[in-house]
This record gives sequence, C-alpha cells and structure tokens, in this order.
Amino acid sequence: MADKKRILVTSALPYANGPLHLGHLAGAYLTADLYVRYKRLVGDDVVYICGSDEHGVPITIAAEKEGVSPQDIVDRYHEMNKKVFEDFGISFDYYGRTSSKVHHQTSQEIFTHLNEKGFFRKKTEQQLYDAKSDMFLPDRYVKGTCPNCSFPEAYGDQCENCGTSLSPTELINPISALSGEVPELKETEHWYMPLGDVQPKFEKWLETREGWKPNVMGQVKSWLKDGLSDRAATRDLSWGVPVPLDEAQGKVLYVWFDAPIGYISATKEWAQKQGNPDAWKKYWQDQETELYHFIGKDNIVFHCIMFPIVLMEHGDYVLPKNVPANEFLNLEGKKLSTSRGWAVWLHEYLEDFEPDLLRYALGSTLPESKDSDFSWKDFQARVNNELAAVLGNFVNRSLTFTDKFADGKVPELVDPTETDSEALGSIVKQKKKVTAAFEAFRFKEAISESINLARAGNKYFTETEPWKTRNENPQACNNTLYVSLQICAALSMLMEPVLPASMKKLRNQLKVAEGLSWDEINDFMLTSGTDVEVGEVLFNKVEDSDIEKQIQKLEERAETNDPVSKFPKLKENIGFEDFMKLDLRAGQILSAEKIKKSDKLLKLQVDLGLEKRTIVSGIAKHVDIDSLKGQKVCVVANLAPKKLMGVESQGMILMAEDAEGNLKFAETTAEAGSTIT
Ligand code: MF3
Ligand code: ZN
Repeated sequence: MADKKRILVTSALPYANGPLHLGHLAGAYLTADLYVRYKRLVGDDVVYICGSDEHGVPITIAAEKEGVSPQDIVDRYHEMNKKVFEDFGISFDYYGRTSSKVHHQTSQEIFTHLNEKGFFRKKTEQQLYDAKSDMFLPDRYVKGTCPNCSFPEAYGDQCENCGTSLSPTELINPISALSGEVPELKETEHWYMPLGDVQPKFEKWLETREGWKPNVMGQVKSWLKDGLSDRAATRDLSWGVPVPLDEAQGKVLYVWFDAPIGYISATKEWAQKQGNPDAWKKYWQDQETELYHFIGKDNIVFHCIMFPIVLMEHGDYVLPKNVPANEFLNLEGKKLSTSRGWAVWLHEYLEDFEPDLLRYALGSTLPESKDSDFSWKDFQARVNNELAAVLGNFVNRSLTFTDKFADGKVPELVDPTETDSEALGSIVKQKKKVTAAFEAFRFKEAISESINLARAGNKYFTETEPWKTRNENPQACNNTLYVSLQICAALSMLMEPVLPASMKKLRNQLKVAEGLSWDEINDFMLTSGTDVEVGEVLFNKVEDSDIEKQIQKLEERAETNDPVSKFPKLKENIGFEDFMKLDLRAGQILSAEKIKKSDKLLKLQVDLGLEKRTIVSGIAKHVDIDSLKGQKVCVVANLAPKKLMGVESQGMILMAEDAEGNLKFAETTAEAGSTIT
C-alpha cells in the first residue's frame, strides 16, 4: 500500500444568515464529503474542516430585516446549519465559526504579519457616507436608480432588474438604505492587497498545479487575463474582526479576508479538542499536506487567487493542491433563488425523506463541469429505478434466496461457470473505475460506476435463474448466491461514501465488519459458511403523491414570494409560424368618440397608412378622450371583424396592462402603415 497521505479538506463556510438549501449541498458539501469518506476508507490521514461565516454585510442585512442583532442571527443559524449538516451525514471533523475568539486572533495575527512585511498598500479614497447613521455605507446599503435600465431600486453593487454590476457612485440619485438620506462623499483610508504586484509570482505557482477542472482553471485564467487589481482588506463597518491597528479604529477586516482564514482557526480549535493543540500545524504548515478547497463557482476568485496569494505572501502556509469547484444547480429548470422562494430547504426535505436518497439523487446530477438541474421527478426516478429497483432489489433477492435455500449462510463456490467468474470479476473491474473517478474528483462517475456493479449483479442473478437451479442443480444455485453476496459485500463498501446510512445497514445484514479499508474491497469479502440476515428493505419507493406534494410546496412558496408574480404567468410558447400569421401595423388615431350606453368602449377612427379603420376599444376609463387625436398606436390589422354594441370593430389596438390593471398604449414612433414584426 502506498504511504498514507496527509489530506486537509475544506468546504466553503456558509454564511450564518439563513438556512441551507439544495444548492449549498450540491456546491461545496456533498462532493467534499464523498471525497473525504472515500479517502478515509483508503486510509489517508484526513481532516475535514468547515464552519459558519459569521461576518459580512449579508449577516447585518439579515439582522436588520428581523430587527435583531447580528450576533442573534449567527447564533441561530450556526446551530441550525451545523445540525442539518450532521443530519445529512456531512462528516466534518470540526465545524467552527468565525465569531470565535481563536478566529479573531488568528486573522488578526495574519493581518499583522502581512502588514509588518509591507504587503498592504494604504489608500485614501472617497466613499459614500451616511451622516445621519454616522457610517460609511457598504455597497449593498446604497440604493438608487440603475444607470443602465432605470430600475429605481438598484443596489450599490448590482441592479437586480438587469443584472449589471455597479459601484455605488454610479447610481443615479443614491440614497442610504439605512436612513433614506442622501449620502455624502467622505474620505476614508483602507489597506489594500496589491494583487496585481504579486500576479507574476502567483502565475508561476499556478502553472505547477495539476489536474484542475477546466471550468475552474478557465475562470482563474480569465481573471488573470484582465490583470488583477488591488482589493481592500479592510472595511468601515462595526460587525467583523477589528483591524488590529491603532490608526484603524472603527474598521474591520473585509469578510473575504477573514473568512478563509476561518479554515485555519477551525483547524486550531479541532486540534485543541483533540488534546493536541499544536496538531493544526502539521496540516497547515508542513508542505507534505494536500490541501483541497471544495466550493461553488461564485467563490473561485477568492479561493484560487486571493487566499492563495495571502498564504503565499505570509510564507508559513500550505497552498491548495486543487480547488474542485462546482457550477450551479438549477431547480426544476429555473435558477435557484432564496428571495423568490425557489429553493428546497434541507431541514424541510428531512421531514419527508431519508438523507441517503438525496445524497444519491443529487450526487448523480452534480453540477461538476456545467450547471445541472435538480427536479423532483428525477429524484423519484433515481430512487425508484436505481436505488430501489437495482440496488435494493438485488440485495433483497440475494439475501432472501440465501435465507430460504442456503440455510441463511454464504454457500461454497464450486466449479464456477464462465458466467459466475465474469460476474465475480466485475467487482474488481468496477472498483478500479470507481477509484479512478474518486481520485479525479469525478463524483457522478464514481456513483454511476458503483451502481453499475449492482446492475451487473442484478442481471447476473436473473440470467442464472436460481429459482430454477435450486431444484435442477443446487450447486449452480449456490454459486449464484455466493457470487451475488460477494457483490453485495463489495457494494456495501463502494457505496459507503454516497449512502453511508444504508450501507451500514447492509453491512450489518451481511455481517461485514466495520472498519474495513478500501484496499479490502475485493471478491472474497465473505467467507463460506458465515451467516447473513435478511433485514429491512433498504429503499422504499417514492410515490407520485410524495413528489406532487413537494412540487406544490415549491410553487406555492414561489407565488407568494415572487415579486414578478403580480403579473400573469407567461403563456405557452407558440411556433414562429403562428407568430407570422399576425399582421401588426403602426397606426395613428384620427378621432375618438364614446359609444352610447357603454362606459368602457370608445369608437376610434384609425389611419393605417393604406386605409382607414373603425376600431372599438375598451379603453374609455384609461385615457383622456380629448387628447387621443394624433396618438400613435400598434394595431392587430388582420383580426376578424367583430360587432361590439352595434359597431363593427375592424382590428384591435395593443395596450399594455400593468399590475394594477391600468392600460397604457403600446406606442410606436413609426409611420402609419409600417409593419411591425
Ligand atoms: N460565506 C461565503 C459564501 O457563502 C463562503 C466563504 S468561504 C470562505 O459564499 F473561504 F470564506 F470560508
Ligand atoms: Zn438595471
């Protein structure tokens, strides 16, 4: 066996400002846990670190929304998130938090060390300041009109209407989200990380990295191509780690400076808990350590560029060997959005299903190299068609047959046929594939190659027909059971990373010892003559009604949360040919009169360029009849004529209806008669 490796694995510290959802799990946690569980079986010396990110503006915003203190928020969600990770079997060795004393000290020490080395560049700059609240405004705290799309509620860092990223000074008519006052520009001083200066050295290091995923390396290279710019390591805020300098009163470390240092602080706390306070040093300061950061793609720049530069310039630390970042997970074909309620909360999932089912279904559709989609239908199909029908069924029939026809004991293998040997051989064959996939961070493949072994087993069982051979040729039946049980035993280990709870049950049924290593997965794990036990069914089918309930929950929540839902839902797509049947024309109103006995309808004369039309339109309540003459309009010119209150209407005028039901003209500047396409 190769030497034991020392492996330090981290998963991005989630903000403790809300509960965790599917997207979190798919991004940084499930993959890391699969890797860690695999590596532990291999026998490597693994420490897996995570914790709560408790600083930064997201926390203070959540606190303000609820009218509680930031500490209240982080206390609540730290506990909640820690628990839900545990429930899902995410096997951290330590789950820390960045409000801890050790963390404050550690990040201050690292800042001080870098400062003494002359790493930072101090800069004076103008920033928006809210005099009434007596504070500099973080980007998120400035609101105003988007210079790009005129959306009146754009934030200082981004317009959520058009998606443009902004800086607060670009906003038109900026106001403070705190006080509603107009902010002023005020001078302030900050400590910048001169990332650009370090870029050449950093690029040399990057060239030595091997096996990085193309989606990750691609993003890193594109940041580098644009040239790295200075990034402030300090902020004018009250919530965070205080900058350890007298001249920096009232300033805290930038959350993205302190948060990744949380990995180090949490490792220190882990070491203390082990009763060996210096043990963290081996993991962080001995260059033999392999450091892996598991993250989602929005964290790439921080983990692949900024934090490595901090560590590199500090000088004492290990740099990451790989950063296997995932892309994004969509939900039912739509972008996940917590603010719109389009999310599956992990604690809610657990009210209805077993964690292993989601680990498997999500693991099979991870956004490893591109965005992927989670749907409840796919979840159901994975559980029913793969876990239940393939793995569960195979295990169940192997064990029940053994119970009934082999006295509940692993039989002997005697004179195996080619079919028997081939099936037995598939254990080592599949193990090789699974191992290679884990080593290359291809977790979807590791899972599919594992279930393929169960598939091969199931097929073999069916083909060898033990229900017939048990009468005609009992030894053939025994051979089938022997081979099947060996496959089951191998599966109970190969699938341990993805299905920890169920595979433990399976090992119990097969009497496979706990604590075996990956090396010990082979085709003779069970000894002839030992007892096995038919246990409970490993996976129950997910019913249609279970899934419908989930989809309904999702949709209801999205409707109540979605700011766009005050508008009617989009209609079904139509074909291009359907659209081309419409004859839309620019027109101009020549005259307008009320239709007697109707308070809604107007009779309009409209110039359509080639001819004049009489059009009856239900807009009387929405327009000023005296100013209609000359109004330019869009007209559906080939709508079949229709009589309304005795007047034939020869077309329809296009109107836009807002959420309150007000009608406004869909206007055009084109000359009457022009076609609209
Ligand atoms: N809290 C950040 C997020 O959710 C991740 C922080 S990762 C760490 O995007 F490096 F800072 F720890
Ligand atoms: Zn905009």
